[in-house]
Amino acid sequence: MKNKKYNVAVIGATGAVGKEMRKILQSRNFPVGKIRYMASSRSEGKVLKWKDEDIRVEDLEKADFSGIDIALFSAGRRRSKKFAPRAASSEAVVVDNSSAFRMNKEVPLVVPEVNPEAALGHKGIIANPNCSTIQMIMALKPISDEAGIRRIVVSTYQSVSGAGLKAVEELMQQTRDFLEGKEVRCDIFPYQMAFECIPQIPQSDAFGENGYTSEEMKLLNETRKILEDDSIRVTMTAVRVPVIGGHCEAVNIETIKTIKPQRARKLLSDFPGVTVIDKPKRQKYPLANIAWGKDDVYVGRIRRDESIECGLNMWVVADNLRKGAALNAIQIAELLIDKENI
Ligand code: A2P
Repeated sequence: MKNKKYNVAVIGATGAVGKEMRKILQSRNFPVGKIRYMASSRSEGKVLKWKDEDIRVEDLEKADFSGIDIALFSAGRRRSKKFAPRAASSEAVVVDNSSAFRMNKEVPLVVPEVNPEAALGHKGIIANPNCSTIQMIMALKPISDEAGIRRIVVSTYQSVSGAGLKAVEELMQQTRDFLEGKEVRCDIFPYQMAFECIPQIPQSDAFGENGYTSEEMKLLNETRKILEDDSIRVTMTAVRVPVIGGHCEAVNIETIKTIKPQRARKLLSDFPGVTVIDKPKRQKYPLANIAWGKDDVYVGRIRRDESIECGLNMWVVADNLRKGAALNAIQIAELLIDKENI
């Protein structure tokens, strides 16, 4: 319905992703009727802007979801588990940024450019994939459609903003303290994050019996679910690097049919939401600092994997808080509005 307005709640409005959601809703002119912000009791009463309006943050524990049409959740898995079903049962459509429902068969897992049709069968909750999955799958989809994918080997280089605002502050403080020769404190990260790469995401209790972290397993499970292909083999290493914003990934793809780098470049350039930067001789390739604050997924270093018959390598970079989280969630809501599915 054109010109209809929707009452929107941002849950986790004070956090890193919530802040991006507030910005993006405004910059994309999302048809917001009334807006509500929710967070923990610590933030209750805090005032955040919506355009020129002052909005008081509500304590999620006490919030009443009635009257909300769209609830954008980004306050962590436990809060989603508890409150997203409540929001959905009071008629809101929930777009959930946590991992709480991603592998639930009843819940679509959606990247609008890749599998928009999946969203339309929702039963009140739609899951936003993990940030690393979203950017990788944006680069995989046109390759998969053309040549099929047999196997993926991915290593991620993930920025600290993925661990929240406190993690960004910790990296900055550690960097200052280290350079001044002071003692470095680690509250969020298990080790000094400044000037270090840590092969563990998230920070605690994350290793499974098979030796992979939960973040790594998300890349496997979510890729299969989104591409609806359980035969795709994926192996992955997820690493936190001392970059503030923007995740990078080295992605190796074994395709079923041969695909030349030139053809892959063309397909990726034509794919919505992807920008190819690939002039290595002129030192032009994607960087976290290029992607940070932007909407697109950037792909470069596209080249043949010469160790196998049908293989490609590429370097994939995106703003983990935007396309990797807030933007993708808002695009899902826009898709539902466009299809009158809300
Ligand atoms: P708060 O700022 O009140 O702690 P980040 O990813 O940047 O760490 O942000 C996490 C978001 O989740 C914040 O908005 C935070 O609110 C919210 N949050 C954390 N714990 C709770 C909770 N127990 N109930 C509601 N919101 C929470």
